[in-house]
Amino acid sequence: MQITSEISENQKYIIDCSKYYEKLSLLCTDININPHMNTEDFLNKSTLFADNLPEPLKNTLQQFRNHANKEGILLLKNLPVESQLPATPTDNHKSSYTSESLLATIGARLGYLVGYAQEKNGSLFHDITPLQSEENEQSSMGSLVQLELHTERCFHPFLPDYLLLYCLRPDPAHKGFTTHAGIRQILPLLSQKHIETLFQPVFRTGIDYSFGNKKTRKANGPVMSVLYGNKTDPFIRYDLDLMTGLTSKAELALQTLKEIVIDMMDGIYLEAGSLLIMDNKRCVHGRGEFKPGYDGNDRWLQRSYVLTDLGPSACDRIDGSRVITTSFSTV
Ligand SMILES: [Fe+2]
Repeated sequence: MQITSEISENQKYIIDCSKYYEKLSLLCTDININPHMNTEDFLNKSTLFADNLPEPLKNTLQQFRNHANKEGILLLKNLPVESQLPATPTDNHKSSYTSESLLATIGARLGYLVGYAQEKNGSLFHDITPLQSEENEQSSMGSLVQLELHTERCFHPFLPDYLLLYCLRPDPAHKGFTTHAGIRQILPLLSQKHIETLFQPVFRTGIDYSFGNKKTRKANGPVMSVLYGNKTDPFIRYDLDLMTGLTSKAELALQTLKEIVIDMMDGIYLEAGSLLIMDNKRCVHGRGEFKPGYDGNDRWLQRSYVLTDLGPSACDRIDGSRVITTSFSTV
C-alpha cells in the first residue's frame, strides 16, 4: 500500500488535519477513560488506539521521528476541540478529554508520555495558563515578559525528547506567540571555530524556575556541551537565560549563538485545535509576551512530554510509573 506523507514542499511543517476531524473526534470519544483518575488504563488504551490514527498522519509522525525536519517542529492544525471548554484557568479538570486523548495517541506514535515530580505534581498533562503571581517570571505560567529561547528541561539528565503543546484557547489579543528555532537552520550560520567550541563541555546551565530555582540563578546546574551527536547534523541543548560559558572562548561562542538564535527565531500563533510538536533535541523554543485579562478568556495550552526510551530514567521512576523523581540542588 502506498502511504503518502502530509508534508509538501510548500506546507513545510504544517499539517492540515481538518479532513480527519470526524475520525479523530470518534477516536477521542471511544477512549472514554478519565486520564487523571485511571492514568495507566488511559495510556494503554490510547497507545492501542494510536494504531487507528489516519495512515498519512502516522506516516508523517514516523518520518518526523526518524529524520525530523529543518525546523524541528510539526504543527498539526484543525484537530478536534473540546465540546465545552470551561473558563481559563480551571482548578477542576474538564469534563471531556479531547486534548488529553490527542496528546496521548499522537504522543504514543513518538514514544512514552512522562511527567516530572516537580512539575504539576508529576501530571502527564500540564494546563499552561497565565498565573498572576508569575507574570514576570521565566516560567510557562508567565506572560508579561518574553520567555527566552531554551531547550525544555535542559539541565535534566532525562529531558524530554519531544514537547507537545495543544491549544485549547488562544490568546484573544493574538499575542503570546510560541517562538522556535531549529539547529539545522542555525548551524550553517555558525563558524567552524564556534561549532568546535560548542561541542566542548565548557558550558554550565541553570535549574529551571519550576524545579526550585526561584531566584533564577544562572549556571547552578550541570556542565555540558551545547552541541552533541553528529558533527554535521548535531543536536542542541541551550538556555539563553540560564546558561553561561566557562571560558572566554565559550562565552564568545555562546554570545554568537544567542545572536543567531534570536535572528532565526520564528513565531507561531497557536489556535484552538492546533498541536505543536517540538523535537527537543533539534529546536529551541520560547514564548512572546502577552497581557492576560484574568477574566476566563486567557490563553490555555495543554502540554505533554515524550521520551522515546523509558529505560535510562527507570532508576528515577518509582514502580514503573511515568513520573521522573530526579532531585536537584538549586543553590
Ligand atoms: Fe519550555
